[in-house]
Amino acid sequence: MVVGQALGRTVSPRAGLPVADLDGRAMRVHQLIVDVVARVTPVPASVLDVGCGGGELVRALGAALPGASVVGVDPRLRRGLPGSGRVRFVEGSAERIPFADDSFDVVTASLSFHHWADKAAGIHEVARVLKPGGWLVIGDPLLDGPLRNPLLGWLARVTDSGRFATPDEVRAHLAAAGLGPVTITLVPKSWRLLYLIVAPAPGVA
Ligand SMILES: C[S@@+](CC[C@H](N)C(=O)[O-])C[C@H]1O[C@@H](n2cnc3c(N)ncnc32)[C@H](O)[C@@H]1O
Repeated sequence: MVVGQALGRTVSPRAGLPVADLDGRAMRVHQLIVDVVARVTPVPASVLDVGCGGGELVRALGAALPGASVVGVDPRLRRGLPGSGRVRFVEGSAERIPFADDSFDVVTASLSFHHWADKAAGIHEVARVLKPGGWLVIGDPLLDGPLRNPLLGWLARVTDSGRFATPDEVRAHLAAAGLGPVTITLVPKSWRLLYLIVAPAPGVA
């Protein structure tokens, strides 16, 4: 799986990322994540999206992977999210994922990682529920580039209520949980804010 290929194919020269356009940003990161997950081999049969919000990415993954079961978890799960037999939603958090060990081929997280109260615990939970040879795919801003600016970092925190991690913190959390080697890729035309973080679980699926 090559993250750069996914980015190269998806990001058009006109695909700017206005920070105020939150819906547009969410849609675009969803498409990037779907493109990366669609490149995983063998084709994933089970995907978990952590912090699924309204479930848009869960449904997009379900459509892109017609044979897969796709589950969204969120601690503030909205009632009545539209799903189907193999696309479903369950209450849970990154820190307490309500599934058994080795349950999923892929775990995704779109714009939720910075909301995880305990990122180390969340990444350990992800590693626990990933099958050997599975993949973690996160799309999120990191405390790098413009967000290193104290004023912008403060603004991002007060407007978004999350806590952004640095690339080094991400590497440390993943390494401590046994995930990696990790690829951290800045999404082009994202105002240098959005990153794709991709890491394998150890072992062969
Ligand atoms: C900005 S929304 C992103 C929603 C969706 N993933 C998307 O891309 O549109 C952040 C989501 O993270 C969820 N969240 C907050 N704390 C969380 C945690 N500890 N574990 C998992 N998700 C969490 C929130 O409930 C919210 O639905």
